[in-house]
Amino acid sequence: MFPLHRGRRLRQNESIRSLVRETNLSPADFMFPMFIVEGENQEIEIPSMPGIFRRSIDLTVKEVQELFDLGIRAVNIYVKVSDDLKDNTGKEAWNPDGLMQRAIRAIKAAVPEMIVMPDVALDPYSMYGHDGIIKNGEVENDSTVDALVKMAVSHAQAGADFVAPSDMMDGRVLRLREGLDAAGFQNVGIMSYSAKYASAFYGPFRDALDSAPKETGEVVPKDKKTYQMDYANRIEAIKEAVWDAEEGADMVMVKPGTAYLDIVREVKDAVNIPVAVYHVSGEYAMIKAAAEKGWLDHDKIMMEQLMCIKRAGASLISTYFAKEAAVLLRNQ
Ligand code: PBG
Repeated sequence: MFPLHRGRRLRQNESIRSLVRETNLSPADFMFPMFIVEGENQEIEIPSMPGIFRRSIDLTVKEVQELFDLGIRAVNIYVKVSDDLKDNTGKEAWNPDGLMQRAIRAIKAAVPEMIVMPDVALDPYSMYGHDGIIKNGEVENDSTVDALVKMAVSHAQAGADFVAPSDMMDGRVLRLREGLDAAGFQNVGIMSYSAKYASAFYGPFRDALDSAPKETGEVVPKDKKTYQMDYANRIEAIKEAVWDAEEGADMVMVKPGTAYLDIVREVKDAVNIPVAVYHVSGEYAMIKAAAEKGWLDHDKIMMEQLMCIKRAGASLISTYFAKEAAVLLRNQ
């Protein structure tokens, strides 16, 4: 009998295809990364990320309400801090009246059901643009972890639902869990950026926050390769995710997204907690640029990438496309 198999039977029309579709996308799969600046009524588009803005707290809150109405249930918050507040201790990071802490309070007051996940890392506060404290020309692990604990506790005090360490210091999840518990925040979760690669895909993000490692004339590492992972490696991604789960992370994240879907699948198989994926700034910029030139179909590529990230094993996706994709899903 020829042919033995007719796989095309299940692809005949959209109704059949929808019956056998293995993966579906919903706005609740997305988290939206937001950049916050000081001031009022500020909305500044990031040149390398068309459609993405740095907003002051008042306009951020409005945007969060719109996102919630579209079915999006989590935001990742990043702040752009003025240069005079940056030093080598990162102390502005745990100022109870800092920009991040005020932003968290304002969002939770206006849209209490939106899950707020502030970024925990020192780079926006570092005069060197590094994710930690520099000592003897290196990013020092343990003193940085102490600073991150103070930072995370101040986020919890401001009302954060989860803290999201993106620094890649060793042992930080355990110390954050202990620090949050000791301060009475047993229910504040940890979403750990466990498998975060040293990636050129973060370029536009560093433009947005002005946080790229700086040329200061002093001896400091010129890039983040002593703490973020080597993109040639997979075993250490599994190891990092398993360690973070053991240390008490509630979710782990793989970052970037589409070039790392093998890692997403392996991490998903290795841990028994939700895996998040960060579809990062450079991935967003590439699609926007190609679509602007008319070389790719923007909406189709956007949905294909998000669906494929989910198919690979992501339970949730942090993406600058969250709002556009949610609108598209609503109108379908
Ligand atoms: C910093 C941080 C970065 C991103 C998220 N948190 C940049 C970096 O590590 O240099 C990048 C996200 C993106 O590119 O969208 N702790």
